Amino acid sequence: MQHVTQPGNAGKALSLQTAAERFGVLERPDLTYTTALAKETAHLYERVKDFIPAIEWPVFAPYIHAINRLKKERGAVILAHNYQTPEIFHCVADITGDSLQLARDATRVDAEIIVQCGVHFMAETSKLLNPQKTVLIPDGLAGCSLSESITGADVRALKERYPGVPVVTYVNTSADVKAETDICCTSSNAVAVVDSLESDTVLCIPDEYLAMNVAKKTNKKILTWKGHCEVHERFTAEELLEYKAADPSIEIVAHPECHPSVLAVSDYAGSTSGMIDYVKTKRPGRVLLVTECSMASNIQAEVPDVNFVKPCNLCPHMKRITLPKILDSLLFMTEEVLVDPAIADRARLAVERMVNLKQ
Ligand code: 13P
Ligand code: SF4
Repeated sequence: MQHVTQPGNAGKALSLQTAAERFGVLERPDLTYTTALAKETAHLYERVKDFIPAIEWPVFAPYIHAINRLKKERGAVILAHNYQTPEIFHCVADITGDSLQLARDATRVDAEIIVQCGVHFMAETSKLLNPQKTVLIPDGLAGCSLSESITGADVRALKERYPGVPVVTYVNTSADVKAETDICCTSSNAVAVVDSLESDTVLCIPDEYLAMNVAKKTNKKILTWKGHCEVHERFTAEELLEYKAADPSIEIVAHPECHPSVLAVSDYAGSTSGMIDYVKTKRPGRVLLVTECSMASNIQAEVPDVNFVKPCNLCPHMKRITLPKILDSLLFMTEEVLVDPAIADRARLAVERMVNLKQ
């Protein structure tokens, strides 16, 4: 692969240079599926053969091969959320996990370049924790309905209305919102974060259902906001009870972004990684993961004895990330995630308080 532009003036006036100017852009590789490429990628196909028909592998394999080569050439690391599609999750990701694990791992990576395969708030969190590193997201429009439900101005108005009440903000928010926050939380540590605060009343925003679920597990008074996850709000207790009626042995494992009535009929509730761990350790004969659909595919191969029932709710934002876009990210160093310096320090503090919280 040939460098058509070279990085210049490294370290000088860095903020004025784009990532493409700092690192250079690369020529698009040949994406022909050859016999040699088939051999080189055969071990990767083994990991996804249950989800990607053999006839489709020649389309995926050249991208996967090119991305893995480029990753090394660039010295980049790929962080992928549990909701990414199997070919990303199993074939190009270096680190996978839930929001908290990805935020923690983002503080430990040595690589100079982080490619975040997830939604924008996740990439922004990685950038906050790694201000000196280059963070790329393959599609900057990969948003989140929770993140879009609230602005920094909304949080300032809430603080005026409830003076002195600490603000716990879900990581599924923009840096602007995090900057107005005392401490962040994720679905895996929300109760611990709320309980770590001295106040009897806590603002837990913007996910109304997560806040309602937290309220059931703490003695504190929880105030919230009317944000919802567009994927999890669609699940209802009624539909889950129908699955149970059809097969009483089925275990229902739900994400806490679902309505409390959904959690009430579930056998377990936890973050995406909590749900995965539950399935891996408990090994239910049949399980329904009440969450984004790709996750079941990502763990199915590791638990062949578990039968997954999949009510297929996809997150359209997560699904914006594709192999061709990841390749473009690495070739052209796009889209670089930057955080306004006027808010970055305050937003970072809220995330760091969460990451450093002893549980
Ligand atoms: P987790 O932190 O549980 O991975 O959740 C992130 C998310 O966006 C769920 O919809
Ligand atoms: Fe946001 Fe819901 Fe998509 Fe998660 S699944 S990124 S909370 S819209």
